[in-house]
Amino acid sequence: MRIDIITGLPGIVTGPLDQSILHRAAKKGLVDIRVHDLRDFAVGKHRQIDDYPYGGGAGMVFRPEPLFDCIEAIQAEVGADAIDEVIFLTPDGQVFDQPMANALSMHRHVVLIAGHYKGIDQRVRDVLVTKEVSIGDFVLSGGELPALILVDALVRLIPGVLNDAQSALTDSFQDHRLDAPCYTRPASYRGMDVPAVLLSGNHAKVQQWRDEQRQQKTQQRRPDLLER
Ligand code: ADE
Repeated sequence: MRIDIITGLPGIVTGPLDQSILHRAAKKGLVDIRVHDLRDFAVGKHRQIDDYPYGGGAGMVFRPEPLFDCIEAIQAEVGADAIDEVIFLTPDGQVFDQPMANALSMHRHVVLIAGHYKGIDQRVRDVLVTKEVSIGDFVLSGGELPALILVDALVRLIPGVLNDAQSALTDSFQDHRLDAPCYTRPASYRGMDVPAVLLSGNHAKVQQWRDEQRQQKTQQRRPDLLER
């Protein structure tokens, strides 16, 4: 899978990509993540990437030229047909969830645009963007952290990225149930004991306990998930 991230603030996204699971996935060649600095496509003698909104109002808006030039450069490299989705991260997009992560993780190439929260010129959205995604009903100062959240959620679903092939499947939300509690050593800590069933070695019993815990927790915290 290839993921291109287009941003005016590359420093925000590069750090997390160099850590842990994302870093390992890239090193193993399971994902190819490229970060593009919009400044490289800035316009005019002032090297601008954003400008005041026509009609007035607060905040700056990304100009269309740097985004068109950057995306066209990626298209020229891989072929326009090779890009499955051009996703703009925006609070007015479709709310991201596990089914969307599952679907997007099947793609070979996605391009993510991280913009100012005030937005990007509408013509980019009309012509280049194929999907608009929000990570929740709150407003962040930019699309960089939302883009990283998408990357993390997608990459961990790529076969071979997680060591235990099962573990992504039993995550909270994968079957509309929250995850069960988990414990590690020591078996007894400050008078708190790990549930005996987990030490029993009886896999069927452990499975049954986990299913019950997941059901109970979901009922208490997220009954809306059970209705889906
Ligand atoms: N940019 C700013 N806020 C956002 C949000 N909630 N989701 C996606 N992109 C955003």
